[in-house]
Amino acid sequence: MKSLRPESINHFKITLAWALTFNGYGPVAEEIEKKPKKTPRDADTLKDIVALTKRRGFVFPGSEIYGGLSNTFDYGPYGVELMRNLRNLWWKSFVLERDDVVGLDSSIILHPKVWEASGHVGSFNDPLIDCKNCKSRFRADHILEETGVDTKKLTLESLVEAFRARQETLQCSVCGNKGTFTEPRQFNLMFSTKTGSVSGSDLEVYLRPETAQGIFINFKNITDTCRVKIPFGVAQVGKSFRNEIVARQFVFRTREFEQLELEFFCAPGSQKEWFEHWCAFCMNWLYSIGLKKENLRLRQHDPEERSHYSENTADIEYKFPFGWGELWGIASRTDYDLTQHVKVSKKNLEYFDSETNTKYIPYVVEPSLGLNRLTLAVLCDSYLVEKEGTPEQRIVLGMNPKLSPVKVGIFPLQKKDGLPELAMEIHRKLSKLFPVEYDVSGSIGKRYYRQDELGTPFCITVDYDSLKDRTVTVRLRDTTEQKREKIDSLPEILNRLIFS
Ligand code: GAP
Repeated sequence: MKSLRPESINHFKITLAWALTFNGYGPVAEEIEKKPKKTPRDADTLKDIVALTKRRGFVFPGSEIYGGLSNTFDYGPYGVELMRNLRNLWWKSFVLERDDVVGLDSSIILHPKVWEASGHVGSFNDPLIDCKNCKSRFRADHILEETGVDTKKLTLESLVEAFRARQETLQCSVCGNKGTFTEPRQFNLMFSTKTGSVSGSDLEVYLRPETAQGIFINFKNITDTCRVKIPFGVAQVGKSFRNEIVARQFVFRTREFEQLELEFFCAPGSQKEWFEHWCAFCMNWLYSIGLKKENLRLRQHDPEERSHYSENTADIEYKFPFGWGELWGIASRTDYDLTQHVKVSKKNLEYFDSETNTKYIPYVVEPSLGLNRLTLAVLCDSYLVEKEGTPEQRIVLGMNPKLSPVKVGIFPLQKKDGLPELAMEIHRKLSKLFPVEYDVSGSIGKRYYRQDELGTPFCITVDYDSLKDRTVTVRLRDTTEQKREKIDSLPEILNRLIFS
């Protein structure tokens, strides 16, 4: 076995070569690519991925012991780490590493007038239909799309017309009856609740359907208190809520989800340039976290498809097992939101530009990403089955090590003779740097298999030679290659391989 000791001049070359063997980064990965495997393009793959996420503690069905609550999900110990890694990487690239973006954490419950001003009370609707026979509820646009109609370009009126023209032939997927749908009607997606403890003084409020408005209503607070100058952005991460008529496709469309949003304020006239900047920046960020280029595309919206506030929108779409779906929406929101808040709040939200000596309402470019969809995209992109149908079959989540919920699995070969103690010593050292997992149960092969399914890039086995010469076997997830390494060198080498 080759050594990776960092004492020779070859160290950097060797470790670099080692790093390049990760899936998607080099020649060994290409070899793996050639082997038969399931790809995320098969419709059935989603079922396998859902099963893996349950089996291995990434995602659990919500309220399961009470029979479940449809379309709610709980993220288990590994799901929570994967999402935390994605959220932190996003914050690092979009806030910490830029000198023109600051952060915010606004309330989920905002004054109801916010949603009147933003247009959500009046127009945040989906076209709803019911089956008169079995009472199942659907989105009219989804039903039409199943018959081949491209509803993205239709206004509500033309959607209703297209629906009427086909109404007699449209079939309910639940009871199988034809022609039993009601006419489409508008359904507001905001969840409402009440605040106030004194009877009669209740105020109807909404759970936010996007985090963006919390940023707009704090625009003046931020310009008054922070040394920001246009162009600058405000980023926010947090939960949003939409009473989706049909929530579906696992965590792709749920009623409660997390958004990573940025409102970038710029001078009127510069929005086109910033729109292009953010489209490229977001796409490059997805490449940088390891998503495959062939599974990503930028799709420009047609004018009819855009939201009421947008003059230009593009979606970064991911090729999910069920087809292309929106991952990240990038919208040029003009001065719509700030102008609306000026009208409704009667507060002056103009910005004084000291460079041009002018006052104006800034324009806004907004990249808005869903964390749950991103998590699903990472799972689909990294899921692979090697040597399918053979005794050596293994399932691997070959994700970028930066994203892996566990970075290193540590296994004593036996539960005796001082091996667990040495393994725990390594655990103590490495756990100060990144998440590691100690595992003593079952054969070494089974322990590797489990970590492959968690996406763990390295496994360390402590054996009898380790007691004599303080070296261990380090096994690489993507190639299954094994190398002998000194225990004292592990923190430096592994840290570099995972994070560089
Ligand atoms: N502030 C703009 C905005 O909210 P959007 O296109 O409605 O725009 C942005 O949402 C992103 O939020 C989407 O691209 C998607 O990733 C995510 N998202 C939206 N609705 C979702 C849902 N019901 N479930 C999961 N993610 C959702």
